[in-house]
Amino acid sequence: MCGIVGYIGGQQATPIILDGLRKLEYRGYDSAGIATLNGGESGIRRSEGKLVNLDNLLRDHPLAGSIGIGHTRWATHGRPSEINAHPHKAGPVILVHNGIIENYLQLKEQLKQAGHTFKSETDTEVIAHLVEEKLTSEVDFEKAVRLALSELRGAYAVCILNEQEPGTLIAAKLGSPMVVGLGQGEFLVASDIPAILAHTREMVFMEDGEMVVFRNGEAAFSTIAGERLDKKPRHIDWSPLMAEKGGFKHFMLKEIHEQPRAVRDTIAGRLLEEEGDVYLEDLAFSDRQLAAVKRVVIVACGTSWHAALVGKFYLEGYCRIPVEVDIASEFRYRNPVIDEQTLVMVISQSGETADTLAALREAKSRGAVVMAVCNVVDSSIAREAGSVIYTHAGPEIGVASTKAFVTQLTALYLFTIRMGRATCSIDSHTGHRMIAALKQVPPLLEEVLKLNAVTERIAKKYMNARDFLYLGRGRNFPIALEGALKLKEISYIHAEGYPAGEMKHGPIALIDEDVPVVMLVPKNSSYEKTLSNMEEVIARGGRVIALCSKGDAEIGKQAEDIIQIPSLDEDLDPLLLSVPLQLLAYHISVLKGTDVDQPRNLAKSVTVE
Ligand code: AGP
Repeated sequence: MCGIVGYIGGQQATPIILDGLRKLEYRGYDSAGIATLNGGESGIRRSEGKLVNLDNLLRDHPLAGSIGIGHTRWATHGRPSEINAHPHKAGPVILVHNGIIENYLQLKEQLKQAGHTFKSETDTEVIAHLVEEKLTSEVDFEKAVRLALSELRGAYAVCILNEQEPGTLIAAKLGSPMVVGLGQGEFLVASDIPAILAHTREMVFMEDGEMVVFRNGEAAFSTIAGERLDKKPRHIDWSPLMAEKGGFKHFMLKEIHEQPRAVRDTIAGRLLEEEGDVYLEDLAFSDRQLAAVKRVVIVACGTSWHAALVGKFYLEGYCRIPVEVDIASEFRYRNPVIDEQTLVMVISQSGETADTLAALREAKSRGAVVMAVCNVVDSSIAREAGSVIYTHAGPEIGVASTKAFVTQLTALYLFTIRMGRATCSIDSHTGHRMIAALKQVPPLLEEVLKLNAVTERIAKKYMNARDFLYLGRGRNFPIALEGALKLKEISYIHAEGYPAGEMKHGPIALIDEDVPVVMLVPKNSSYEKTLSNMEEVIARGGRVIALCSKGDAEIGKQAEDIIQIPSLDEDLDPLLLSVPLQLLAYHISVLKGTDVDQPRNLAKSVTVE
């Protein structure tokens, strides 16, 4: 999830683009760059790290020109570095890109065969060379862009310049966001509204498969295939702060709603559908190395530890390999029994959690094979693990983890397919089935997000409770833990997650009408058992909020409130069940007036012991 900005008009482009990139830093900030055209002369400035580094570079080496493009990067392919920073250049073609090109390796090989040489590790540079390849005496810039984009698979929002046509800026969109600003004698393009708002409130929202050519003071909209379009602008009256949150009141709510896109991006380019397998580009293990693993230990903290608990079900269920899950702050002092046949996997959104990093180092010192599931490319944990499955959730600003969690489950499911295929515990038929189920998750998450109003109503009803219980069985017990953590960390209400079958061994003494009980009871292999646990709670005067499968009439007769979830399959229900629990916690927190995005006593990344 990166940020792009383009400008063409009567002003100097650099300050406008730089300001736009600042407004998009929440989309990613591990490197940045700007290019401008000044007549036929192009200039490019790029820097690693925060945007301030680019700002300083431009102060010493300014760029002139009234047409330009800029980019702030959240690395997906290729570590954060100046060489991987955008803009990328091939011949006269200069471009910035937000998205993931799934077939970039294949295109890169073809272009190398045609004599192209590449400087970076990025998928983006391939697009620049592809456009350059298409440019001939018969094929002009606009046509070359159309031909090149038609060969791409994946997602892109691109802004493209050509030194040979210094008065033209082209932008196109497929799968990644893009908005066009219609100013007075000037045009802007960006990934999101905040970058444009200071210059105009007249905006055109580009749709997938659309392109715009800015030339001679005109903006010509069309499909990428070439059909002219008449796009009507909308007047946007958001405040700048509202715009940065995409119109949402809090980053957490915005990130909850980003989950379909985040899962889509985490899957993109990794499904080998014909083979019933997956391709994990940063996982440096051969099938033989994976087959040599005799046990797995997954280590993490907080929400990431909950993801690890679900991962245990996946790996043990499909790969029949023993999996232990440990909390990092415990593992590192446990004198753990691990050896070179143990795979230690650490899970961390930030990649900087001190306990998890220490656990990783402890595992390495004892000769374990190590890997990480991480959301930040080139973070300390990613670098020291070596083998990584990156979740492509994009920057997660809200302290309460939401989209990172759901993409961690996605990454664990992908790894299970890979591990299972490598150890022959998953055949191609099962692999096909698992991939087909995984592809249903993004649209089903969109459907679950429509439960916002239901969860808000329930939040109003129970917001003054002093204690909550969350109960689930099997793969949904970790989701009960996660739901409880979401509630307590942002609303400050005490909440406990518990295995539903464990209630009779003590906690059921807590049940009375003042303790709402959230039951995770979708139709699955433990449905009957969980239903009887729910009845035990109700028989003692408990008030049950049941998350159940759509159409389950039985639950509605007993539970006081129900939230109906579309059924997918037992393995992936945890991804769908997480969303209403996130929304419930969010709405209770808002109603109580606590600081949703930055709750008291907490930090987004716990880099101290
Ligand atoms: C989750 O909502 C919390 N912010 C916290 O438990 C978090 O999951 C934990 O600190 C681990 O962080 P990490 O994933 O960045 O390592």
